[in-house]
Parts: sequence; structure tokens; C-alpha cells
Amino acid sequence: MWPFRRQRHDIVLENVPDQRFRRFGGRQHLAAMPYPLPKDMGEINRLDFQHFLLRTGLRGNYAAPVNQPADILDVGCGSGRWAMEMAALFPHARVVGLDLVPPPEDANPLGQGLDVRPTNYIFSVGNILEGLPFAPGSFDFVHQRLLITAIPRDRWPNIIQELVRVTRPGGWVELAECGSAQDGGPGYTGLWQSWIDFLNTRNVDFTIGRHVGQMLGNGGLVNVQQRVLNFPMGDWGGRIGRASATDCLAVGKALRAGVVAQDILPADRYDALYTRAQQEFAQRQGRGILPFYVAFGQRQG
Ligand SMILES: C[S@@+](CC[C@H](N)C(=O)[O-])C[C@H]1O[C@@H](n2cnc3c(N)ncnc32)[C@H](O)[C@@H]1O
Repeated sequence: MWPFRRQRHDIVLENVPDQRFRRFGGRQHLAAMPYPLPKDMGEINRLDFQHFLLRTGLRGNYAAPVNQPADILDVGCGSGRWAMEMAALFPHARVVGLDLVPPPEDANPLGQGLDVRPTNYIFSVGNILEGLPFAPGSFDFVHQRLLITAIPRDRWPNIIQELVRVTRPGGWVELAECGSAQDGGPGYTGLWQSWIDFLNTRNVDFTIGRHVGQMLGNGGLVNVQQRVLNFPMGDWGGRIGRASATDCLAVGKALRAGVVAQDILPADRYDALYTRAQQEFAQRQGRGILPFYVAFGQRQG
């Protein structure tokens, strides 16, 4: 009989909720973090899609003048796509992707042999808000992209200090962040404003993206440069415009529950803005854009 009885520790394990996550708005989210986006397979797929979109716009994966880096760090690596591509591009480098939790793929094959994890890529658990688990000067290139929603406004100077600390003298730090909706109709603009207001309730400044270069300079880096890429939002921008709009609408779905729960907007008003944004994105004479800022700076030798 005993093989058919569940052992006591099995039952206990099945009933223990994973403390790292909570269910909210029908999706799995990180628990007890300012970061408002879901942390599930649907979000990993969106991050991959967004990565391909950004790489197309940037015409590459980075802007800093790095030269055969031996050690590369990606802070808040999400799906790990950027870090894995960098590992393939620099096969002699050691590439570390750091995030609060690994993406689900880490437990499974990425893609039946077509999509493989480079052997020079490793994932590391870490929380940038608590400091990085690396010795000073460990990396030649430290990259952080789209953590704007995860970092409270007063923490940015410490975060930059921490990125600089783990960078070798002569090495580079690169930040890439989105700006805010520009030149769009009331749907796109209204949705974006609701996200700014929602994140403000978590002490997160969702308009800080345009200052990334300035922040690197304030952190003591030299040779700082900043570029802006204006992504068209919607059909008027061709295929990249449609892809940007698709990504934006996916974010809009993911943030809806938070905006409504914080009483920023009632659900029906949010849904009306969302529908309006969809219509605006489908108009050939649209003009909405989303600026994306990429800045890099060098640690003095
Ligand atoms: C919008 S995603 C961007 C992912 C990736 N950088 C990219 O561009 O595709 C933000 C990522 O930051 C991670 N994150 C949020 N708060 C974090 C923290 N305190 N420390 C480390 N990672 C964090 C999230 O888990 C998520 O994977």
C-alpha cells in the first residue's frame, strides 16, 4: 500500500506558496518589490519581443565603444536574451545575467536545439536595490536596460554608484530607458499618464529616462554620451511602428490591475483609453512616438 500514499513532506512542499511571487490581476507578480510588471511566461515572451524590437532600432545590442570585453554584466536581465546574445557575440567573455528570479526557461531547454544557452553565459540571483554580489572592478561592461519601473526615484544615485563599483577602471556602464509618450492622441497619452501616476504611488519616477546620461555623469563617469531613438507608435511607423504599438498595448494590459487598484482611474475609463489608443495606433496619419534613451560612460582608469 505505501507506494500509493503521499509522504508527509510531499504534501507540505505542495502547499508551501513560493514567497517570491504573488497573484495579482490574474498574473504572477514579484512579491514585495516596487517593480509592477508580471513575472511569468507571458512577460518573458513580451520581453523577448521587445528585445528584438530594441535591437532593430539600435542596430545592435549596445552603443558604448567596448573592445573585446572579458566580463559583461546585465543587471535586471529579464528573459536573459540580451546577455545570451552578448555571450554569443563575445564567445571569449564571461557574461552574467542578474535578476531577482531566473526566467522559467532556465529549468527547460530554450528551444529544441535552435535556441541554446551559450556556455559562457550564467544567471545570477541578485537584487540591485540591495547591492550587487560582485567584488569591485569585476566587469568591463555593465549594462542595465528598462529598470525604470523597478527603482524608486531616491535610489538612483546609489544604484549608479553600485554599477560603477563593479566596473573595472577603463570599463563602460550603459543604461537604456524609455522616455514618455509624445505627440500621441488622447488614448496613448492618457494611458501613459495613468502609468506615471500609478508608479508615483510606489515612489518611482516613470519620466526619469531622459536623464540617464546626466545620471552617469553625476556618478563620476567620463566620456558620457546619450542617444535618443524615437520609436513610432502605430501603423504610421510601418512594421516597427506596429511592433512598438503591440508592445505598448501588452504593457497596458499588464499595468491595468495596478492602475485600477490604486484608484488612478476606474476600470471603465482605463478600458476606454486603451480602446482609443488601439484606434489611434491603427490610424495611418498618427504621429505618436516613444523616445528611448541609451547612455554610456566610462570609469576613469
Ligand atoms: C522590464 S524588465 C527588463 C528586462 C531586460 N533588462 C530587458 O531589457 O529585456 C525589468 C527586469 O528587472 C527585474 N528587476 C526588477 N526589480 C529588480 C531588482 N530590484 N533587482 C534586480 N532585477 C530586478 C525584473 O525581474 C525584470 O526581469
